[in-house]
Amino acid sequence: MARTRKVFVKTYGCQMNVYDSERMTGALAAEGYEPTDRPEDADLILLNTCHIREKAAEKVYSELGRLRPLKQARPDLKIGVAGCVAQAEGEEIMRRQPLVDFAVGPQAYHRLPRLVREGGVDTEFPAEDKFDHLPPAPRARRAPAAFLTVQEGCDKFCAFCVVPYTRGAEVSRPAERILREARELVERGVVEITLLGQNVNAYHGQGPDGEWTLARLIRELARIDGLARIRYTTSHPNDMTDDLIAAHGEVDKLMPYLHLPVQSGSDRVLKAMNRRHTAEQYLRLIERIRAARPDIAMSGDFIVGFPGESEEDFADTLALCEAVRYASAYSFRYSPRPGTPAAGRELVPDEVAADRLHRLQALLARHQAEFQRAMVGRTVPVLIEKPGRLPGQMVGRSPWLQAVHLDIGAEQVGRIVPVEIVEAMPNSLAGRAAA
Ligand code: SAH
Ligand code: SF4
Ligand code: F3S
Repeated sequence: MARTRKVFVKTYGCQMNVYDSERMTGALAAEGYEPTDRPEDADLILLNTCHIREKAAEKVYSELGRLRPLKQARPDLKIGVAGCVAQAEGEEIMRRQPLVDFAVGPQAYHRLPRLVREGGVDTEFPAEDKFDHLPPAPRARRAPAAFLTVQEGCDKFCAFCVVPYTRGAEVSRPAERILREARELVERGVVEITLLGQNVNAYHGQGPDGEWTLARLIRELARIDGLARIRYTTSHPNDMTDDLIAAHGEVDKLMPYLHLPVQSGSDRVLKAMNRRHTAEQYLRLIERIRAARPDIAMSGDFIVGFPGESEEDFADTLALCEAVRYASAYSFRYSPRPGTPAAGRELVPDEVAADRLHRLQALLARHQAEFQRAMVGRTVPVLIEKPGRLPGQMVGRSPWLQAVHLDIGAEQVGRIVPVEIVEAMPNSLAGRAAA
């Protein structure tokens, strides 16, 4: 029998890449590749890359530089670049980096086995569902929380964003395939599923009785015994429909946490970004969501220093944050991306953008700390996920996606237990199992 070969996969970028890496690992297992976490043991190294900001894309080239000695020592080592950088720059990577054997875009993974054997570039957007052609991973027991991609691509074309180009047009997977995959995950020990999509709330997949919305899909998933928690990410404000808002009030299994990026609090900047809504519309939307589910925690994304952003525009962003009080939020300096509409526009000076980012992050951190502190003394249901840093300690998640550390036996993994929160840190909580 041939020696088993090993694959090392390194994942950058968003949760959809995490899910894709799992599926690619499954596809390669069917080809006889076993996963390894040591690149020096690997016969195949796969970088699943992100193109969202310049820094993210640069990581690929520095990683390839680090891999050069490995390839020189073992010329039969295969190196592949997958993901959004491969989609955007696949041909160029192959030209500039002779150590790369193949490049595969995010919609062409089902052709991965052939690319591994033959090399080359595949960045097509085929019409078929790539996941139909990817064998599922071996049926081992899974960690209690899993991702499940239900929708891919984006038709929104925000002026700064590469996703519509790297992932292509919005496509929803058929509802029954998603339900089947969810049931299989639950059989393997999964109790929490996060539905993924670049624009997940634009989901409109074929169901047995016509097209389903995300709300309908969530309601059907909630009927699966053993599945205790449902989340979804990432959403666009303009796709938060009434039925989805209602689901937040009616479906107990749908967790009270919503990532709803707004990017800016200035109508002028929102318009220049092509976001197609105002700050006021966003705030009204959050009011309606909070009316349906009063304890919902909001999370968001912000870009500072978008071309044309004035100090007044930035003040509007701070004011919006004060109004919403995010439980957590991500903020980035604008990074011009080749091929996007905003790429040629005049930049805000570096030091101005850096200063704004600093001020915004200080405010967001204060709100996050307040949200964390408000948990102390409460008893909340925590899904125990995995061992923590200290011996005997485990980490779980609150309904609001907070990491909770506590002393509890490893046999509790996959259970949801009441935990009294005793201490709040900026990014996690400490608690003890409540009697
Ligand atoms: N589909 C999601 C976001 C995907 S990208 C949405 O519409 O919200 C994740 C985040 O990266 C974005 O929300 C945005 O805040 C940030 N981002 C995207 N392009 C960027 C760029 N060119 N420069 C800086 N940040 C960017
Ligand atoms: Fe990018 Fe905008 Fe689409 Fe989000 S909605 S993926 S930010 S183009
Ligand atoms: Fe990055 Fe592609 Fe995700 S650009 S954020 S890996 S969709």
